Amino acid sequence: MVDLVIALRDVSVSFDRNRVLHNVNLKMQKGETTCLLGTSGCGKTTTLRVIAGLQKFESGSVNIFGKEILPQTPEKFIVPLRKRLGVVFQNGALFDSMTVEQNIGFPLQYCKGVTNEEQVKEAVLEILQHVELNKDVSNMYPGELSGGMRKRVAIARALVHEPEVLLLDEPTTGLDPVTARHIDALIYELTHKFKVAALVVTHDLVSALGIGDSLVLMESGKIVWKGSKEAWISSRNRSVRFFASGLVSIGEANVP
Ligand SMILES: Nc1ncnc2c1ncn2[C@@H]1O[C@H](COP(=O)(O)OP(=O)(O)OP(=O)(O)O)[C@@H](O)[C@H]1O
Ligand SMILES: [Mg+2]
Repeated sequence: MVDLVIALRDVSVSFDRNRVLHNVNLKMQKGETTCLLGTSGCGKTTTLRVIAGLQKFESGSVNIFGKEILPQTPEKFIVPLRKRLGVVFQNGALFDSMTVEQNIGFPLQYCKGVTNEEQVKEAVLEILQHVELNKDVSNMYPGELSGGMRKRVAIARALVHEPEVLLLDEPTTGLDPVTARHIDALIYELTHKFKVAALVVTHDLVSALGIGDSLVLMESGKIVWKGSKEAWISSRNRSVRFFASGLVSIGEANVP
C-alpha cells in the first residue's frame, strides 16, 4: 500500500501579478526521498514553502496527512499540521543569539510542548549523536561552528521533534565537495532511520543521485520531468539531458 503523506494538486503561486508556480503536482510518500532539482529562481523554495504551509497559493490544493488545504483555508487549521514537519531552510537559518542546545530545543517546545529542561537536554544530546556531533557543541553558538557543523545542527533541529516529513532546502550549498558528501550520507542515513518522507531541494545532481529515490525537475515554475533515479539516468528527455550536462543555462535556443 502506498503511504501518501503529501500531495500537491495543480498548485499555482503568484507574487503580485507574476506567476512563479504553474499547476504543480507533486507527491511524497512515507520512507521515500524526493529530490527537487532546477536552476536558480525556477520555484523550488516556493514549492517547499507551500508544502511547509508557509506560502499562500492562489489555486489548487495541498493534502497534508490526509487533510485538504485550499487557498482560503485559515491559518489556525494549518499550524498544527506544520508542527508535524521538520524544515531545514535554505541558509540553515539558526538563531544566532541562541546556543546549539536552545536552537535544537526550540521545536521540542514549540511543536510538542516539552518544557521540562532535563527532558529537552536529554533529547538534544540524543539527536546530536544522530548527527554525529560531540555533546560539547551544545553550549556553543552558531557563529562558532563550521559550515558543515551548522548544517548538522540545522538537521538536528529539524528532526528532534520526530516529524513525519522532512523538508531540506539546499542542504549542501556553500559546502566544499567533501563536506557536502558527508552531509548527503547523513541525510541518507537519517531519512532511513527516522522513516520520514523527505523532500530535498537542490541543484546538486550528485546529491540528488546519491540520496533521492525519485527526482523531480522544475523549469520556470513548472514540473517538466519526474521519475526514479534509474529513469533519470537513462532518460532522453531534453530538459533532463540539459540539466545533467550543466548546459541548461547556456540557452535552449541552441537545442536542435
Ligand atoms: N517573496 C517573494 N516576493 C516576490 N517574488 C518572489 C518571492 N519569493 C520568490 N520570488 C520569486 O519567485 C521565483 C521563484 O523563487 P524561488 O525562491 O522559489 O526559486 P528557487 O528555485 O528556490 O531559486 P534558488 O535556487 O536561487 O534558491 C523567483 O523569480 C523569485 O524571484
Ligand atoms: Mg531556493
